[in-house]
Amino acid sequence: MSKIVIAIDGFSSCGKSTLAKNLAKKLSYAFIDTGAMYRAVTLYFLRKGITDFKGLSRQRVIDLLKEINIDFRFNESKQFSDTYLNGENVEDEIRSTAVNNAVSALSQVSEVRAQMVALQQQLGAKKGVVLDGRDVGTVVFPDAELKLFMTADPVVRAQRRFDELQSKGVEISLEEVKTNLEQRDYNDTHRKEHPLVKADDAIILDNTNINREEQLQLALDLALERI
Ligand code: C5P
Repeated sequence: MSKIVIAIDGFSSCGKSTLAKNLAKKLSYAFIDTGAMYRAVTLYFLRKGITDFKGLSRQRVIDLLKEINIDFRFNESKQFSDTYLNGENVEDEIRSTAVNNAVSALSQVSEVRAQMVALQQQLGAKKGVVLDGRDVGTVVFPDAELKLFMTADPVVRAQRRFDELQSKGVEISLEEVKTNLEQRDYNDTHRKEHPLVKADDAIILDNTNINREEQLQLALDLALERI
């Protein structure tokens, strides 16, 4: 069997990571959560007290990026990888409200994008990978053998994300979740560099009315046709 690259892009909280993780597991492929990388960089900047990303000079961003090392390590109990920032497991902290609110602004900075894209290309160079993000099929791996573009009704997305946060004990209102999603969707689709856009050859997967198992089966069938 040949190994392929599977790119899963789409709006925030569409279940991209869940699908990507499960698909990678079924195919024994590596899963690369590109959003987690932007989140880890954001966490690093926030910890340094930096919140005005636009006010940073190019050189300052480059210098800060040099201080950051991101990697993924397999977590036996979860059976999935956790995100590490300079050797520290930050899997939970990168999903915090503070990071949620800042990540799409920092993701607009060119130097950050250039470095993340290069790292993602390096991680996926040997193929046999499923990546999820916003620009995987358009910028990171434009030649990916399978590209999925995920979408769902914004109301359904907000409710799912709210339920997930509640189950983790995060105190947040449905309204706040909705506002954050709308803001991120707006930033991600309107930024100058690498905006979220469907690749011409991507297959749309609208999961408003289908469950996780159905999505996985659909994606798996599409992947197996290409392997
Ligand atoms: O996928 P996730 O919601 O974790 O991504 C967090 C944020 O990271 C997105 O809202 C987007 O601003 C940014 N991102 C990006 N390009 C990617 C993946 C994520 O700009 N490939």
